[in-house]
Parts: sequence; structure tokens; C-alpha cells
Amino acid sequence: MEKLGEKAEAVDNSDMPSFSIAKAWASDPDRLKFSADAYAENLSQCPVTRTPMPGAADVYHVFRAGDVTQVCQDWQSFPSGSEKPRFGQAVIPIEIDPPMHTQYRKLLNGLMSPRRLMGYEADAREFIEEGVAKLVAHGGGDVSQLCRELPLKAFCLLLGEEDTSILEINRKRREASPGLDDSSEEATQARKEQLAPVRAMVRRRVEAVLANPGDDLASEVAHGEIDGRKMTPEEAENMLTILYMAGTGTTTAGMQGTLLRLAMHQDAQEILRREPRKIAAAIEECLRLESPTAMMPRHCAKDTEVDGHVIPAGANVFPVFGAANVDPRAFPEPEKFDIDRKPRHFAFGNGIHQCVGAPLGRMQIRVLVESMFKLTANFTLDGVPQRNIWPHSGFSELKLLVTPV
Ligand code: HEM
Repeated sequence: MEKLGEKAEAVDNSDMPSFSIAKAWASDPDRLKFSADAYAENLSQCPVTRTPMPGAADVYHVFRAGDVTQVCQDWQSFPSGSEKPRFGQAVIPIEIDPPMHTQYRKLLNGLMSPRRLMGYEADAREFIEEGVAKLVAHGGGDVSQLCRELPLKAFCLLLGEEDTSILEINRKRREASPGLDDSSEEATQARKEQLAPVRAMVRRRVEAVLANPGDDLASEVAHGEIDGRKMTPEEAENMLTILYMAGTGTTTAGMQGTLLRLAMHQDAQEILRREPRKIAAAIEECLRLESPTAMMPRHCAKDTEVDGHVIPAGANVFPVFGAANVDPRAFPEPEKFDIDRKPRHFAFGNGIHQCVGAPLGRMQIRVLVESMFKLTANFTLDGVPQRNIWPHSGFSELKLLVTPV
């Protein structure tokens, strides 16, 4: 068997174009058409790019829906695990490959039960309706903060922790964090330090639930079994920390992006207010166009051909979910906002690492949309929203004008 990073033969990709996601995102001045514009050239002309990184392995970006699917499905050639984990230690399960990944996923899949989600939904609705009522009382305002708070609260509920303040502080610190495409030692160290306060909070919870088991998710993880043995406290801490890393900023961006798209499309709002059963599919269309997780890293374990180009062993590879989501080969008229599209999109990834928290993310977005429809007659954009630039998705400011019911 080939070892991770083993080269089959020398590959010369020196004439391949490079790609900067930060530049692509910044190139769209009003940033409302966003994804389709940012990725159009790569999708049509250079679907695989090679970007040299100072002091680190080359980064290859893969854009088309078919190629993103190939990279995500072929975890043997493109594993998520690496000898140099991006947060200093391998994050469970996102930086783990089978067979252990399968074991961790089995445990995690079972934790997002409909019963547990229903319990969270009541709390989420109360919190969001209160926030939307304040917005309505002011005739509108910036909704970006409301969208940041709910996912932090949801994480605390999962953890059985009441105080969200440390997470809010940490969210601000994370705004300076380097993107996952930077695999240098300094970037790894910075990410590790930024995560330290959350890890400490999670560690306290793991110690508490090991001493006094409860019925929250933290307790279930800490007392869970993996591969026929008891989970170690370190594994539990690691697995719970990823729920913060993977589940808060993404959901915030998903909530913000959904409000943006609905505010831009009064016709869609009218249909959804009349036919609420269509809300779930409309949210998927918003997620397709907004792609809160633009891309995620893989490593190339052996020279592998993608779209006629050989990606060499040892490279870092990014399937760009945001680009695949606007690939006309998979989504005809990709820039068109079509709430009847019912897309099988890439916003939650693809393959074995496909998002385990999707039901929780979707529930929070749905509760927000339902609350907006319940308490407003309509809502529109107020000015130009301030979209974040890679490595952050979502908006730093998203102002709406609302008409009360
Ligand atoms: C709209 C909200 C969300 C979006 C767009 C999103 C997106 C994604 C994507 C694209 C992946 C695949 C990563 C990869 O292929 O490397 C992923 C994985 C993951 N997500 Fe989410 N996510 C969301 C919400 C959540 C929530 C609420 C949680 C949990 C609280 C969560 C937990 C995870 C975990 C643990 C993984 C890793 C799964 C694995 O490695 O098997 N996500 N997510």
C-alpha cells in the first residue's frame, strides 16, 4: 500500500493557473451575485488550479461539481487526515479517515435525534422570536448579530452549558484567524491558540459530566463507546469542540445568507408566506447560492488524475463547494434563485464527511424564517450588506427594513 505523501512519479504542473479565493470574492463589488461571478472563470476555463504556498505544500483547488464529488468520495486518494493537523491535533471526526472515522460518525449520527432537535427547537424559537420582535419594533435594523447568537446558544445547549459569553469573546478573536488553506506552522499555532478558551470550556464540561452524568449531548459523548471501548476524555473534548468549530459560524452564515436571498426576492417571500411547506426547499436553494463553507481541505495521498490533470502526492487539495454549487453542469442557470429547484447541493459537503449537524443547522434557519414570516408582512434590504471575505463567510452587517404584520 502507498504511504501518505508517497510520489508515484514527478508531476510538472508549473504552467497551471493559480487561484486566490480572497481575490475572487473581493472581485464582485456589490457582492450580491457573489458565488456565480466569483467562480465563473474557473468553472468554464480552469477547473483545476495550483497555487504555490510559501513554506508549505502547493494548494490545488477543484471547482466543478463532478470533480468535487470525485475528491470527496475518493477518501483513499484524498484523505482528510494529515501528518500536520491544522489545529495542532487531529480534530474528530473531520480530520480522521476510516476506519476510525466510521466509528466516530456512528456515535455522532445517533446524537442528532429528532427528539433532541425538537427540544432545541422550542428554545431556539423563543430566542429568535424575541429578537425578531425587537427588530420589528424598530422598523428593522442589522440582523447579523441575531444570526450570530443563536448558533452559539445552540452549541451551549448541546454542551449543557449556560454561559455563552466566552464563545462570543472567542468569535471575535476568530475573526483574525488564518484560513485553512494556510498550512504553515504559524497559522497552525494561531488556530490552536484561538481555540484554546473553547477547548478549556469544553474540558470543564467533560470533567463535570464524567463526574455527574446528565441527559445532554456532552454527557452522551463523554460516556460514549468507540470501537467497543469507552471514549477517552481527550476524544470527548475533541469531538465536542468540533461542534463549535463546524456548527456556529456556518449556521450564522446560513441564516444570514437565507435572509439576504429572501429580502432580495419579494416574489419568493410571497409564495413562501402563502405556502410554508415550501420553506425547507427554499432554504436549500439559499444555502446552495451562499455556500457558508466555501471549501474544505483534503490531502493528496497518491498521484491522482482529476479532470485530466494529475494532482501530485503530498499536495493540499480543496474541493470548492461554493463553486460546485454554481456549476451549470449540475445546476442549469446557476445564478437563478429558484425555490422549486430542490437541489442536491454541496453546501453540507459530500461523501463520508458530509455534515453531521445539517439537521440542527437547517432547523435553526427554518425557525428564523418562520419567525420573520410570523412577525413581519415583508422585509427588504436596507443598503448594501457587508459581506465577509475569506476565510470568513457570512456578513458583518446585514440591515433589513421590516413591515410589521
Ligand atoms: C448551515 C449550517 C452548516 C453548514 C453549511 C455546514 C457545512 C459543513 C460542511 C461543508 C461539512 C463537510 C466538511 C468536509 O467535507 O471536510 C461539514 C461537516 C461537519 N459539520 Fe457542518 N455545517 C453546518 C452546520 C453544522 C452544525 C450545526 C454542526 C454541529 C453542531 C455541524 C457539525 C459538523 C461536523 C461535526 C462535521 C464533520 C463531519 C465529518 O467529518 O464526518 N455542522 N459541515
